[in-house]
Amino acid sequence: MISKKMTEALNGQINKEMYSAYLYMDMSAHCTYVGLSGFANWFMVQYQEEMSHAMKLYDYVNSQGEKVVLNAIEKPPGKFGTPLEMFEATLKHEQFITESIHGLVDLANEEKDYATQIFLQWFITEQIEEEANDNEMIAKLKLVGIDGNGLFMIDKELETRLFTPPAKE
Ligand code: FEO
Repeated sequence: MISKKMTEALNGQINKEMYSAYLYMDMSAHCTYVGLSGFANWFMVQYQEEMSHAMKLYDYVNSQGEKVVLNAIEKPPGKFGTPLEMFEATLKHEQFITESIHGLVDLANEEKDYATQIFLQWFITEQIEEEANDNEMIAKLKLVGIDGNGLFMIDKELETRLFTPPAKE
């Protein structure tokens, strides 16, 4: 059993994860358009990850006998800069998501909602990984700078990223 306030907050998080998916899908489309197929793959895998995050929340709200409420998804920017700027924007967005998850944990703590506290542990760990991935990409992109060959090498490397669905609890 979870409170109505918690249900509303979790439904809000579903929307944020759906927007994240939409944002990365948009970034993937941009990368495909400019010929960076490896970067496009990286962002499309990220889209799949975000959809799985949204579904994890969706399943949890259902499992608590509460109603999932879906709201409109904000339009993503549609225009992006260099790969470095894209990853800087990605990191900024993920930091916003991390704060949002921490807000949910604060609420679960306030409400002594032990089930949701445990459920959210997975998301806390996931956010550490998400931010680490972005920081690593930013460091690599800063290292190669505007060197076309370096960018080409990174693009090749990103072709290999595969989506691994999170394990069911
Ligand atoms: Fe689901 Fe990237 O946060």
